[in-house]
Amino acid sequence: MSGVVLFVDDEAGILNAMTRLFDESGLQVLTAGSARDALEVLSHTPVSVIVSDNRMPQTSGIEFLEKAKHLAPDSVRILLTGSADVRSAIDAINRGEVYRFVTKPWDDDELKDVVFEAVRRHDIIASLRDADESKMLSLAQAIELKDPYTKGHCDRVALYAGMTAARLGLGPQQLQHIKYGSWLHDCGKIGVPEHILNAAGPLLPEQMEVVKNHSRWGADVARLACLPEPVISLILYHHERYDGTGYPTGISGERIPVEARIVTIADFFDALDSDRPYRKRLPRDRILEIMKEADGRFFDPAIFSVFMDGIKETARD
Ligand SMILES: [Fe+2]
Ligand SMILES: [Fe+2]
Repeated sequence: MSGVVLFVDDEAGILNAMTRLFDESGLQVLTAGSARDALEVLSHTPVSVIVSDNRMPQTSGIEFLEKAKHLAPDSVRILLTGSADVRSAIDAINRGEVYRFVTKPWDDDELKDVVFEAVRRHDIIASLRDADESKMLSLAQAIELKDPYTKGHCDRVALYAGMTAARLGLGPQQLQHIKYGSWLHDCGKIGVPEHILNAAGPLLPEQMEVVKNHSRWGADVARLACLPEPVISLILYHHERYDGTGYPTGISGERIPVEARIVTIADFFDALDSDRPYRKRLPRDRILEIMKEADGRFFDPAIFSVFMDGIKETARD
């Protein structure tokens, strides 16, 4: 069985016990000592199942799982609760906040069964949703209609990003998220007026602000289409830079989801490799020179070197 399970508990001993319990299950186990740490994990890592203690200082498990529901709607939520809290756990299930609860002290086999079932449930929902490629493609094509200079851009970004992700050894689910996210990364440009998109010269600062909104608008579209969280965050963060000078949030380094760090490089490359209203496409050697200069500031160096190896082989073929 594969998938990611996040255990949230303020007691380190319990987190250790959980980690040992799922040691040989094939599941990847993540742990967080507080609701705040757990939300941070969920903001950048896709998690199949969350198992949270209820009695924690500051934020209760039920409150945390309510927040997690919005941040990571695809993660299946399980509450670990003392027998005194069973009433509120049942309420949480009835409100759709929680999928199951397990009472403390738990029975190892029971907990394993509940978690495995939750992982399967997560995988079925995810694969059903991900299978709807037509919705995503029609969105991508709508953007390209609007901006003729980007024709084929989404497909090429998907190709380069997929090549890089495969060389990095990412799993099939992440490859799929990267494909969909690449297709849709600029879908927020639907909200940008054509005269700005096709401007022949440099943009005014206020026009630039409008263009910059396409990341957030795109992420909103993806959220409404109920796309998986990694696809939404890829769209949101595809113009962030490794050194924190990008937009819309200015996050840096590994806080930028790996999917977005990969697509940023593919997007940058294809933008220079295509004609734009204000300039012709650049020769490949020149593009790679420009990108090498930007490496470390704009790009994750480790991912960039994998991309460079791949693109050189592509050029040879
Ligand atoms: Fe973009
Ligand atoms: Fe792009």
